[in-house]
Amino acid sequence: MSYNLLKGKKGIIFGALNEDSIAWKVAERAHEEGAEFILTNAPVALRMGQLDELAKATGSDVISADVTSADDLEKLFDAAEAKFGKIDFILHSIGMSINVRKGIHYTESNYDFYHKAMDISAISFHRLMKIAKQKDIMNEWGSILGLSFIAAQMAIPGYNDMSDAKSLLESIARTFGYYYGRDKKVRVNTISQSPTKTTAGGGIKGFGELYGFADKNSPLGNAPALDCANYCIMMFSDLTRYVTMQNLFHDGGFSTTGLTEEIMGEVRD
Ligand SMILES: NC(=O)c1ccc[n+]([C@@H]2O[C@H](COP(=O)([O-])OP(=O)(O)OC[C@H]3O[C@@H](n4cnc5c(N)ncnc54)[C@H](O)[C@@H]3O)[C@@H](O)[C@H]2O)c1
Repeated sequence: MSYNLLKGKKGIIFGALNEDSIAWKVAERAHEEGAEFILTNAPVALRMGQLDELAKATGSDVISADVTSADDLEKLFDAAEAKFGKIDFILHSIGMSINVRKGIHYTESNYDFYHKAMDISAISFHRLMKIAKQKDIMNEWGSILGLSFIAAQMAIPGYNDMSDAKSLLESIARTFGYYYGRDKKVRVNTISQSPTKTTAGGGIKGFGELYGFADKNSPLGNAPALDCANYCIMMFSDLTRYVTMQNLFHDGGFSTTGLTEEIMGEVRD
């Protein structure tokens, strides 16, 4: 159902890889709600070719950008400015860890890989906001979102160095959000989403167990990707103008549930 919540709004959506991606669902919902946007992903992701389908369905341009490259981001924002003038929303839906991919244990982290994970998954959030702010491309009351996970607050075995990346991402949202709000009335938040069956999610060691546990230990169960997209739409809309510098849990209640009866029944000794 469409409520025209984003009618007239323009944006950039980072991180749609395939139809499982959270960003893919956000793009579909943003289109339904009347937004226009540019889709962007790393060159290697674009070579997989699926993004063209989404671009066609949503009437969007696709622009390649590796978020570790300031050059790529400069070009992306220039293209957005040429197409739209100022924009209203940005979704950062990006995560990647080579330590995770290679199954290297957290306590044995390879630091080149560790730096790469921080750069792609967290520092890129700062980098894109730095360039957006320098170019003064955001309209007042614009909204910028990153996607996080509860492993920023709790130790979750298998989430590896992505836990540290998510802690940094949330901190960047708070600190950059302070300056962006003060100087330009732009809001910056992260949404902490339930485990979700996507390419990035599936790469986590023990993801199946994590998914099942979180589902059972949440009164509402795990939040699906489409509902996460709906939350993003609300955060991009004018209905949330004074929400900034927050990490917003979208997790069926997992983050504030100690133990459900279901889990209790399973672990009784
Ligand atoms: N899936 C989950 O369980 C879950 C839970 C909470 C938060 N998140 C977060 O949601 C976000 C989206 O992940 P997803 O689950 O939709 O998986 P996904 O694999 O569909 O998306 C991750 C995206 O990051 C992009 N990316 C990787 N390196 C990049 C680079 N150098 N430059 C530009 N883009 C790059 C990938 O191409 C991909 O599109 C991530 O931040 C992830 O950590 C996921």
